[in-house]
Amino acid sequence: MKNKAKIGIIGAGRLGTAVARQSLKAGYEVAITNAHGPESLRLTLSVLLPGAVAMDVPDLIAASDIVILAIPLNQYSTLAPDSLAGKIVIDAMNYWPPTEGDIPEFMIEGVTTSEYLQQYFKGSRLVKTLNHVAYNELEEHSLPPNTPGRRAIALAGDDEDAKKEVEVFINDLGFDPVDLGSLSQGKKFQPDTPLFNARYTADDLR
Ligand SMILES: NC(=O)c1ccc[n+]([C@@H]2O[C@H](COP(=O)([O-])OP(=O)(O)OC[C@H]3O[C@@H](n4cnc5c(N)ncnc54)[C@H](OP(=O)(O)O)[C@@H]3O)[C@@H](O)[C@H]2O)c1
Repeated sequence: MKNKAKIGIIGAGRLGTAVARQSLKAGYEVAITNAHGPESLRLTLSVLLPGAVAMDVPDLIAASDIVILAIPLNQYSTLAPDSLAGKIVIDAMNYWPPTEGDIPEFMIEGVTTSEYLQQYFKGSRLVKTLNHVAYNELEEHSLPPNTPGRRAIALAGDDEDAKKEVEVFINDLGFDPVDLGSLSQGKKFQPDTPLFNARYTADDLR
């Protein structure tokens, strides 16, 4: 059997810690980081995430098979453009103009935030997913495979193999993955769409 992917989460706030908890429950190795450095995560790890390890960003990226971006979107450029080359990257971020202000690169007509990030993070294998589920629901709505009514999580990306690996991860978190197509299809589950923060089964979501 194939080994489970090593998960690295950039961002240890609401979403990052929820994804970390569910990943640990599913038997994944988890590394996590924040803006204030590994030392600042000591209490979070011992109380909320026993078993996870804190690392700085370069070490976390090097150690991970799947890197999850769970930081405010306006922080993306603190990561170097070539820092994620070759990595499977889950873009779980959303653009919130009311709190983040106007960010011109995310206001380009016809270009989704994930498409922009795919161009910025050269050579990364970006998959947009997890962004449309509230952090607390990752635990509350998680169910074993084949449970009637199991919630679906959408994903979109241009790298088919990367999507396959991410689908395994989503399933292990307790959700039915639904591939909606190329990265441009991320527009279907960004904020202000019917899929955002809504609970659907895989059939309903499709
Ligand atoms: N909250 C949700 O339910 C939810 C659901 C789906 C998607 N999302 C998306 O996930 C992202 C994070 O949301 P959140 O609610 O988890 O935010 P949050 O609770 O404010 O947490 C943000 C985390 O990102 C870290 N961070 C900020 N800038 C960073 C940087 N440059 N490098 C490394 N770490 C950095 C912060 O570190 P410090 O703690 O050191 O400041 C903090 O741990 C957003 O894009 C949001 O749209 C959120």
